[in-house]
Amino acid sequence: MKVFLNESGCLLLDHSEFKNFSIHPLWLRERLNSERYLDQNNYQRLYEPSLLDSNIKFSKFCVENNYLKVEFTDNSKGRFLIGDLINDLYSKDVIPNKKPWKNNFKNLPIYDFKLLNDGENFKKLLCDFQKLGFVIVKNTSVEEGTVIKFAEMFGPVRTTNFGKHFDVVSKPNPNDLAYTSLGIKAHTDNPYRKPMPGIQILHCISNEADGGDSSLVDGFAVAEHFKNNESEMYKMLTETDVLFKFVDKDIILENYGKLIELDHRGKYLQSRFSGRLDYVPYLEPYQLQKFYEARKKLYHLYESEEFELNFRLESGMLMMFDNIRVLHGRTEYDVNSGFRHLQGCYIDHDSTEGKLRRLSSPL
Ligand code: OGA
Ligand code: ZN
Repeated sequence: MKVFLNESGCLLLDHSEFKNFSIHPLWLRERLNSERYLDQNNYQRLYEPSLLDSNIKFSKFCVENNYLKVEFTDNSKGRFLIGDLINDLYSKDVIPNKKPWKNNFKNLPIYDFKLLNDGENFKKLLCDFQKLGFVIVKNTSVEEGTVIKFAEMFGPVRTTNFGKHFDVVSKPNPNDLAYTSLGIKAHTDNPYRKPMPGIQILHCISNEADGGDSSLVDGFAVAEHFKNNESEMYKMLTETDVLFKFVDKDIILENYGKLIELDHRGKYLQSRFSGRLDYVPYLEPYQLQKFYEARKKLYHLYESEEFELNFRLESGMLMMFDNIRVLHGRTEYDVNSGFRHLQGCYIDHDSTEGKLRRLSSPL
């Protein structure tokens, strides 16, 4: 493989994967990874890269046995495995892309808790979670506190004003309708928080009542549907800021956001939906009319047979879902027919992504 410099002092490699890249000397200099430059325990840089000579140049370079070897004008030198360099240039990550889904699973992503101590199974669960935004786990336990133990297999729990975990049971004068026996249509939890809780885990201790079935729906798939079929409504939903609000005797939480949020390139970022606690801002009436039409359509797609997955959590089962992508709900249940008790908690996206990266690059 040939390697040469262009007129601005950048390295070019005549390798199919490199043909779009010219490598700036400083970019490579600050990636030098031997013990002189990086602490070999924690992979952190031992010097301040902002203080490197900004006019640094390559003084020597060659490719040998799959390594690019370089020396710089500040007398530093090192080598890079070509494969690692390609991954770095393309910003490759092991995290799988989201796969939109509808209610037509051949096999649901159901995992047996007893088999999760096998690293490969755990990794498979994490991959499914990244692709689908949810997994179901059976054969956990019916003990209280299981949800926290399970959450801590991934990382730290995010405590909120509902506590480290919350008990989803019907109780008098609740500060949230989740703590009644009412049905709750598809929603994302806590859109009024900054930031919203990333991942929710709901563990079923008892589900003996009539009703109380669960649902999940992929906000990403519904967003794609709007993008491809309802461009005007998609525009309203992705551009209108809605206020979400939680009020109890201790606190008033408020946050604004779009029902479908995109990044600056128009790529799907997240969904927000909670018909119990949203407040549409003042808009010109003709625009409001359009927004309400779009929200109605969104609501109906979320509850449609095409998109909404329905199932029942039995005691000992849990579901873990991406709260900014996958909406969840439950049907009404009859408190007089039997006891229903779920425990829930939140964790951050960092945990599931970080564990998957760790398991994908063995020490
Ligand atoms: C919740 C919730 C669903 C259920 O607690 O946020 O939506 O099945 N619960 O009770
Ligand atoms: Zn909820």
